[in-house]
Formats: sequence, structure tokens, C-alpha cells
Amino acid sequence: MIPARDHGSGSAPGSGWVVSLAAPDDFDGWREVARQLLRAAIPPEQVRWEAPGGEGADLFAAAARPLPVPPADAPQPRVSRAFVQMAQSAILHGDSARFALLYRLLWRLQSCPRLMEDAADPDVRHIDRLARTVRRDIHKMRAFLRFRVVEEADGQERYVAWFEPEHHILRANAGVFVRRFTQMRWSILTPQGALHWDGEILREGPPAQRSDAPSGDPTEDLWRKYYASTFNPARLKVGAMLKEMPRKYWKNMPEAALIPELVAGAQAREARMVEAGSQAFGERPASLAEVASAIAACRRCAIGCNGTSAVPGEGPRKARLMIVGEQPGDMEEQAGRPFIGPAGQLLRAHLNDTGLDVNAAYVTNAVKHFKFAMTGKRRLHQSPTAGEIDTCRWWVESERALVQPRLILALGASAARAMLGRTVSVQKERGRPHRLEDGTELWITTHPSYLLRLKDDGRQEGGRQIEEARFRDDLRAVAARLRELA
Ligand code: URA
Repeated sequence: MIPARDHGSGSAPGSGWVVSLAAPDDFDGWREVARQLLRAAIPPEQVRWEAPGGEGADLFAAAARPLPVPPADAPQPRVSRAFVQMAQSAILHGDSARFALLYRLLWRLQSCPRLMEDAADPDVRHIDRLARTVRRDIHKMRAFLRFRVVEEADGQERYVAWFEPEHHILRANAGVFVRRFTQMRWSILTPQGALHWDGEILREGPPAQRSDAPSGDPTEDLWRKYYASTFNPARLKVGAMLKEMPRKYWKNMPEAALIPELVAGAQAREARMVEAGSQAFGERPASLAEVASAIAACRRCAIGCNGTSAVPGEGPRKARLMIVGEQPGDMEEQAGRPFIGPAGQLLRAHLNDTGLDVNAAYVTNAVKHFKFAMTGKRRLHQSPTAGEIDTCRWWVESERALVQPRLILALGASAARAMLGRTVSVQKERGRPHRLEDGTELWITTHPSYLLRLKDDGRQEGGRQIEEARFRDDLRAVAARLRELA
């Protein structure tokens, strides 16, 4: 229960309510009290809000007293979803006026339900600014936090990171780090508090200091090597880089020490890359696990920067058949595995019917992150551009170099482009072998998502039944060719 305290005595402005929230990011607490105050018709100017450590905190204020009880027939407050979403972010801001601002907006929304649509309103602009800043801070923590490894008393490794967020975003980011690093033991230390994950339970700890975290370890060399090899001189814009990765984060990022040198050498490397006509990210990864961790950190195109998790390929390391799709979909992104959604099920059914063992194939995608547009609450697939496919080509080529399949099956135009380096017509090129530069055989067919979109209108030309039969013919030809190659 969050106590509300009578602040001062007698008349305004000393009279009113002081609300002490349990934590600086206590959205639920704020909402509960705000609803009660609103229903009791307490106007914003009579409420003062505090949170631990905030400027509004008043250590000498009077003892707690219960909140005012609203009349039984007081209406429930009305709020728009836009307000709730913005409030959940804005409340994490360090601005001590945020709680009061939110309550004032909530109060005003009761008589003006479309207030949030008024972009010129000073309160709306203020909350929008706070929410944006918080979202940026959340992103920066996800992008710039670096773990150092330490050995624990039981001999196991723990990854420890020091980070200085600008706002109260630690808890808001906890779920993402748990999902990303479920298998590891890790701790994130910040001046506002700490998170400790032991593989099963997440614990919170008190504020920490920089000296509580290790300052260097052997993984730093790896980070530096990785950064140097993925640094793309062709995309270097120093101003934009500094805006995206402000210098204040550099001290915790081992790879940042390389930046001045890499910037200096950027032009020469760019010239070499232009000559070579391709996107080269340095040395190829030495294992599929390295590809997986490198794509997770890849931010070389807009899709890689959209906050989704990369989906690596899966299958035997020395598979004879490599199947390449376009990009992970919504379900694949959530599960971190390729082709497990509806298109994947259709693909697996046809592979099965035509005698191709999907478990013996290495299954991957031309593009490693999920590109989508929000439609309401749904993430709708969007096709990658040729430039995005070409950028991601480095990774699928790295997988190919490691797996060394005898035959590659490209599903759809994006996969065909990734393999050939140019756009071709799937309908013209399907169902027959092509040769890649190193002699590997490439076969092209349609993408199963295309089949899913077709109308099932009997056996008419262009209808789903006919197209699925053609797809199966292509797969049968691949199965036969694989037998020959064996
Ligand atoms: N479509 C693809 O191209 N790949 C997947 O992994 C899923 C759907």
C-alpha cells in the first residue's frame, strides 16, 4: 500500500496530499493512487508526488494518512490506450515533475478524451518528449551494455556488466536480458540498483558502484576483434555515429578503444570494398555458433536495428542440402528458429511428401532479422529490400562456407538474390540447376508463403492446388538430384 500524507496544515497552497510512491518506476502504484484521487475529485494542484531518491521526496513530511475515499458512485476514470502507453514509458524518466504531469493529463483527459491527439498541447508535448527519451535510453542499454566474465566461488562463470542509465529503465529492460541470456549467469550493476540472474531466478540488488564490476577480461579481445571485423567503413558517418553511440558509453565498451583508429582507416577500406564490389565484414566466423552470436549483434541495416532478435539457421553442420528462405516471420522471431510458423509447416509437409528429410538439411534465411510493419497489435511481414538482402548476404554466405552443402534450395526471390547476388525471375529459373561460382548447385523454387496466399480455387491455373503441385515437382527434382550427387 502506498501511503498518502497530509502535507502541511491549513489553507492552500500548504494543504493537499503528498503521495509517496514505492519506487521511481512504480507505474502500478502511481496508477492506483491516481485513480483513487481522481475518483475523489482531488485536483492536480492539490497533490504532490514523491518517489525514493527523487527531488520531490520530503524526508520530514508529516506521518502517513489514508488516501481520500471516493464516493461509491464516483465514475471510473477514462483513459485512452495512447495515454497508458506513453505514461508507462514517461514514468521511467528522471524528471521529478513526471508524476504530477501524468496526473494532470489524466485529470484533463476526463473532460477532453481526445487530448492526446493534440500535438500542440504543452502537456502532451512534454509527456511525448519524456517517453521518447526513455525509449532511447532503453535502446542504448540494450545496445551498449557489455559483460565481463568473472569466476564464482563454485567455479562457474558469471557475466557482470556495469551500466549508467540516464533514467529508471533497469527493471523495464530486465525481461529482455533474461530472454537474451537465459542460459548464462549474469549481473547488471547500475547506480540505481542491480539485477542478478542465476539461470532461473531474477533478483534485485542495491545500487552499485563502478568499482563493484570487473574492468577487463579475456572476452574483451573477442569484442574488439568482432567490432573491427564488422565495422563497415562504407556506412561511416562520424556525426551520426556519435549521436547513436555517445562517448559517455565508450568507457564500458572494450571495442570503443578502436574507434579512432578505425575511423582513420575507413576511407582506405571503403575504397577496397567498392573495388571488390561486395559488403565484406572482415574475417568470416569460424563456427555456426559464432555466426549466431554475430548476427545477434549485427546492426548493419535498418532491419537489424528494429529491436527484434536475429534468427540463425539450424541443422547438421555438414548437411548436404541447405534450404534458404527469405527472413524469419513473427513466430520464428519469437522462438528463435527458422520455418516453424505456417509457411514452415507447409514447407515441411511438402518436403516430407517428396522424400526430403528436413532434419538432414541446414535450414536458414537470406535475411536474419524480421522486417515488419505494425498494424494494430500485429506485426505484418514486409519484404526486405535488395540492399538489405545484399548486406545480410555476408551471413548466409558465412553459413554456406561452414556447412559446404552439395546443393542449395532457394525459396523465393529474396533467397535467390542472396545466393546469386542479383535479382532473377523465380518462375523462369525454377526447377533446374544453376551453378554458383564455387561449383555448388543452386535450385530455385517459389516460397511457401506465396502458396499460402493463393486462393484454393480448384485446379485452375495459378490456383493453390496447381501451384502446390508445381512446388512438389521442384522438390522431387531436388530429391532426385541429391540422390545422384550422393
Ligand atoms: N519464411 C521464411 O522465409 N523464413 C522463415 O524462417 C519463416 C517464414
